[in-house]
Amino acid sequence: MYRSRLEGKLDENTLEFLSSISDDYEIALYDIVGSQAHTIMLFENEIITKQDAVKILSALEKIKKEKFSAKTDAEDIHEAIESIVIKKAGKDAGGKMHTARSRNDQVALDIRMKIRDDINTICFCLNETISTLLQLAEKHQNTIMPLYTHMQQAQVGLFSHFMLAYADALFRDLDRFYVAYGRTNESPLGAGPVGGTSIPIDRQSTAKMLGFKGLIENSIDATTSRDFVAEYLAHAAILMTNLSRLAEDFIIWSTSEFAFIELADKFTSTSSVMPQKKNPDILELIRGKTAQVIGYQLAVLSNLKGLPSGYNRDLQQTKVSIWPTSKIVISSLIVVNSLLKTMNVNEKKLRQAIDGGYSISLDIAEHLVRKGIPFRASHKIVGQLVQLASNSKKSLTRLSVTEVEKAITNKEISAKDLYKIIQITTPEMSLQTRKSQGSSGKHEQQRMIADRKRKVQAYMVGTTKRTNEVRQAFDGLEVKVKSLIKK
Ligand code: ARG
Repeated sequence: MYRSRLEGKLDENTLEFLSSISDDYEIALYDIVGSQAHTIMLFENEIITKQDAVKILSALEKIKKEKFSAKTDAEDIHEAIESIVIKKAGKDAGGKMHTARSRNDQVALDIRMKIRDDINTICFCLNETISTLLQLAEKHQNTIMPLYTHMQQAQVGLFSHFMLAYADALFRDLDRFYVAYGRTNESPLGAGPVGGTSIPIDRQSTAKMLGFKGLIENSIDATTSRDFVAEYLAHAAILMTNLSRLAEDFIIWSTSEFAFIELADKFTSTSSVMPQKKNPDILELIRGKTAQVIGYQLAVLSNLKGLPSGYNRDLQQTKVSIWPTSKIVISSLIVVNSLLKTMNVNEKKLRQAIDGGYSISLDIAEHLVRKGIPFRASHKIVGQLVQLASNSKKSLTRLSVTEVEKAITNKEISAKDLYKIIQITTPEMSLQTRKSQGSSGKHEQQRMIADRKRKVQAYMVGTTKRTNEVRQAFDGLEVKVKSLIKK
């Protein structure tokens, strides 16, 4: 349709190479809605007549309900829609739809509307998943478990504390997306090919009709920049990396060696040959798909880094990274949420794991510190206790007073007192004593849960408000379109 300056048609292979049509279906509806807003603005500013506007709008309404044929000569969805509008509305009217805009501002507009919706969906999914983690935290405030560093037992902790840790990481993801929404929600429409237009358009009015908060003002910036895409994908990659850590923890915890959790049957797979298998394939796929999302983010940055300002066709390829990223992120959050809701937490196994290790050591050392012994000396005493216990393959509580005596080299404390401290430093008591902010301490769990519940509520309200604003704008646009067509 656009090739009047060029001789002849593109051959089939070249068209296929050049065309983005197969990637464009995801933005087809946005393109139609964007064209409706543009057409109404052209009419309201007396750039086109009402009759022409009605013809264009009626054609666009029909296209909304139709299926696109896979066979088209169009290079992309923008050309495809415009050529159908011209066919339906006639050359005289249809040919006016593209007045004062370009595919360059058009494609940027469509991508922004798509990412804007995807961000809201992701924020909702994150809210749901965080809420589930908070419910688990609430339920498991007394479920004692070992905490690990280097995959070795480190300190006595609580299952609730672990769930709150995931929740806080996901809160940061939520906040990243939530803030990025503001930078995405700016309209590039009317920027034209790169330098704007002499036709008296009203950019603010199309922005408003499409539910944008404002304009991405500079027309060069509006058509060139895809940093909002890079930002969206970066946030997606970080979120997936956080989910991947949760997945890795859960894979380890669901081995028969750990058996801290058991995944519900419907969230596991089995083997074609080993009948006993219950594999955490879903979690493995979270890890696997994370790699893919990181790749998409890298592909976009690599694409952008070499480009000069102004639209360049390379930008077409950025879309290829966006759609699958949204799909992966949204579906990952949905399955992780369901998996969390249905898994079984083996409280007994978690508690037993403590007894098999020496994760109480630091609590004993801190007890000695509270008795006035310098930490370095306490560390040494408890280290020696653990060595003695470990050599005779028993727990610290099973050491006799005479054995305990061997650990005291500088008479900092009597063997009897040390023996008593070891006996009373139970995991339960340690978690009562743990007071520092954000720790595994009992009281901290209650405080953090209440605080995070309020936080999740605030994001929920904000996301709902944004979704409604977009919906109301689209509803208003539809009313305008319908009333013009009817008259
Ligand atoms: N299919 C193109 C894309 O997705 C649309 C913009 C084409 N603009 C142009 N001047 N060739 O990026």
